[in-house]
Amino acid sequence: MTAPTTEASKTSEPAGADRPLLITIDGPAGAGKTTISRMLAARLDYDYIDTGALYRAVALAATEAGIAGDDDDGLAKLCSALTLGFRRQGDTLRLISNGRDVSDLIRTPELTMQASAISARPVVRLYLLTVQRELGANKKAVFEGRDMGTVVFPEADVKFFLDADLEIRAKRRFNELRADERVALSEVQRQMAERDRNDSTRTLAPLKPAQDAIRIDSTVMNRETVLRRMLTVVSAAAKPSK
Ligand code: DC
Repeated sequence: MTAPTTEASKTSEPAGADRPLLITIDGPAGAGKTTISRMLAARLDYDYIDTGALYRAVALAATEAGIAGDDDDGLAKLCSALTLGFRRQGDTLRLISNGRDVSDLIRTPELTMQASAISARPVVRLYLLTVQRELGANKKAVFEGRDMGTVVFPEADVKFFLDADLEIRAKRRFNELRADERVALSEVQRQMAERDRNDSTRTLAPLKPAQDAIRIDSTVMNRETVLRRMLTVVSAAAKPSK
């Protein structure tokens, strides 16, 4: 298995400064995790790590290699030859898969469903567990995903679980679609419900809040309010212990 690369690590803090934190944000698709995680990371000058993108990159590599989503041997071989990492470009991190920037290739509806399917395979989760933990080794990062607080970083300093009603999540996702991606709102909602079901009923690392996660429901809350609430929690956690 090849170690992940990251050029995103931050330098260590001088004595007396706020403690560097590892922050996790889990929740279902469309709850606003990406927007909020980015905003929070930017405010703290932390890295934002989109772990769904890692599952999507594995799904892309499998599709390109003609490996079926349930072919565990094929997926194991694929993962053993795959190097995933992020490269900083301006304010964002680009996802690099075996030397190629795949950031713009992994957002298609097909890969969205394919990523959900392969994310149920233990071999893929095990591979990405190592990748994610290495990426988090230096803290000062906001990790967004489904099992960050429960499985990947059970010792995270601050854990959030961001949720919202299915209807509102589907509406938000629908409004984000570009003209060439347009499908009916009912179809967006159907696909989202299917993904929710896949993600939360799989045996391994299902989507659920960690026991010590702070749960935030963004159904009727705007992003500024959510961010403010998170920043309050984070600044308390960052105070150096006496
Ligand atoms: O966040 P996203 O929609 O880009 O994630 C794509 C899929 O990857 C999602 O359906 C479930 C899976 N995933 C996961 O199982 N665990 C994570 N930490 C992140 C994503």
